Amino acid sequence: MQPNGVRLGSTHRAWLFGAFAAAFATGTAWWVLHHWFPTSGEFGAAPHPAEHWLIRLHGAAALFTLVLLGSLLTHHVRRAWLAGRNRRSGGLLLAFNGLLALTGYALYYAGSESLRATAGNTHLALGLALPLLLILHMAFGRRTRPNAEDELRPTDEDESIG
Ligand code: HEM
Ligand code: HEM
Repeated sequence: MQPNGVRLGSTHRAWLFGAFAAAFATGTAWWVLHHWFPTSGEFGAAPHPAEHWLIRLHGAAALFTLVLLGSLLTHHVRRAWLAGRNRRSGGLLLAFNGLLALTGYALYYAGSESLRATAGNTHLALGLALPLLLILHMAFGRRTRPNAEDELRPTDEDESIG
């Protein structure tokens, strides 16, 4: 088997999907609870009790997505870029992820309320659009396969080549 280094091994791909799905699910669930399911506390409306651990899980999933993004740069992105394949949707996906990380950082450290609100809204919009962009990226990428050899997927033993 002569894998071209752009396609991912099944374990690698499962980790990537798992981390993004976890970030997406926890972020979306937090947002739904925060906006539509407030509870009433002693002093009026209070956050839903699940929000606290959802955002903690979200932070953990977000860190994993960064590790997995890093793991794509050396082979998947570099080789696809050099081969001139799927650059547009790949570049957009990279930009989305960069902005997600940047706005996530701002959510942690922004001092002003208005900056925090802008970062939060931007972050949420990018996050909600991410699955669709990833699906399109994979579909467009598949169409750029140069020949039948690229149908081959690396085995888990080939995982080191991405
Ligand atoms: C955030 C960054 C990126 C993520 C999360 C990502 C993720 C993925 C995933 C999961 C696949 C499906 C792989 C498979 O089925 O084995 C894929 C396919 C592909 N990606 Fe990316 N990608 C990213 C960036 C890029 C960039 C920057 C490029 C181009 C320069 C690129 C080019 C491709 C190509 C050509 C395919 C099709 C491979 C094939 O099916 O033969 N990707 N990408
Ligand atoms: C995949 C889709 C994603 C969705 C739907 C999503 C959604 C959210 C939401 C709703 C919040 C709370 C915003 C607020 O407090 O106003 C949040 C916080 C955050 N997100 Fe995401 N997010 C996603 C992906 C990511 C990724 C990829 C990263 C990192 C690279 C990330 C990092 C963060 C960080 C650091 C916070 C702040 C946590 C805190 O306040 O303790 N998120 N996200």
